[in-house]
Amino acid sequence: MTEELLRIDDLHVDFLTDRGWTTVVNGVSFDVGPGEIVGLVGESGSGKSVTSLSVLRLLPESYTRTPEGHVWYQGRDLVGLPPRELRDIRGNEISMIFQEPMTSLNPAFTIGDQIAEVYRRHKGGSRRAAFARAAEMLDLVGVPDAGNRVKDYPHEFSGGMRQRAMIAMALACEPRLLIADEPATALDVTVQAQIVALLARLRDETGCGILFITHDLGLVVELADRVVVMYAGEVVETAAALDLYNVPKHPYTAGLLNAMPQLGVRGKELPVIPGRTPEPWRMPEGCRFGPRCGYASDKCVASAPSLRIIEDGRSSRCCRTEELRLVVSP
Ligand SMILES: Nc1ncnc2c1ncn2[C@@H]1O[C@H](COP(=O)(O)OP(=O)(O)OP(=O)(O)O)[C@@H](O)[C@H]1O
Ligand SMILES: [Mg+2]
Repeated sequence: MTEELLRIDDLHVDFLTDRGWTTVVNGVSFDVGPGEIVGLVGESGSGKSVTSLSVLRLLPESYTRTPEGHVWYQGRDLVGLPPRELRDIRGNEISMIFQEPMTSLNPAFTIGDQIAEVYRRHKGGSRRAAFARAAEMLDLVGVPDAGNRVKDYPHEFSGGMRQRAMIAMALACEPRLLIADEPATALDVTVQAQIVALLARLRDETGCGILFITHDLGLVVELADRVVVMYAGEVVETAAALDLYNVPKHPYTAGLLNAMPQLGVRGKELPVIPGRTPEPWRMPEGCRFGPRCGYASDKCVASAPSLRIIEDGRSSRCCRTEELRLVVSP
């Protein structure tokens, strides 16, 4: 077992909706070790972002309340940590990269000033030293001519370069944990591949742990050591990335793998998972995936399965896991 950096333990998050309080993340548990890349996958609306935003308590207080459960970071529970202590951790020990960099960069300040500002807030030192650090970080994430580009404003950067700037900002204080929520989804595939390669290199060079969130299982298998699959606010499978890819143990994971386009295979229709993720206030009886599952039987409706350890390092939330031979088309 890996040494622990982050351990999310039985996390429940409720949202205030028109229908009253609704649970959108329901008892999520997983961990990330130092130097480990964990992929968090699942279809849109499965609760990946809500889970990751809860780590640093970044969900708006207007419609959420303090989550139940624990978010252990190096032995401290971030749930219930005083805001001042949490602010010291945010951006310093734990950094987050968001999907849309334009909303996280201030158009009125240069890229360099913004990275320098984050650095100075946590590490102190002179403006000049912080600005030099910003240029160094931009260079590290592969922005060409970083020494000059550091003086540019966000609109002078392309989408891919802005995403690199966000990563540079997230890494400026050498965080121990990086949470990257769809860091490359808005970008074209070549830039996407570069960002993924960059994250892998940063992990190797700095030894930080990374929680990598995406709906792209292909990217996850490439980058992550371990994968956590979420469905309808719950974890349904966890495994080492290659094990999950080669032999999925939960029908939902098999469905996601089958829906992945294969390179060089033309004219074959991709099998999609029928139906869609249920709304949080309208969860089905028994297994939440049951109504969409080709393997569902009576017992799947009778009771909700729990997440069980099925072998060393693997768990599945399917009561039929042992009897199923899930087929993933080659
Ligand atoms: N601001 C919000 N107000 C109301 N419900 C929300 C809000 N944000 C998310 N939700 C609900 O919470 C649940 C989890 O959403 P979340 O954003 O975590 O999904 P996700 O897995 O990150 O999806 P995506 O792949 O689209 O980013 C969904 O049912 C979603 O409808
Ligand atoms: Mg999301």
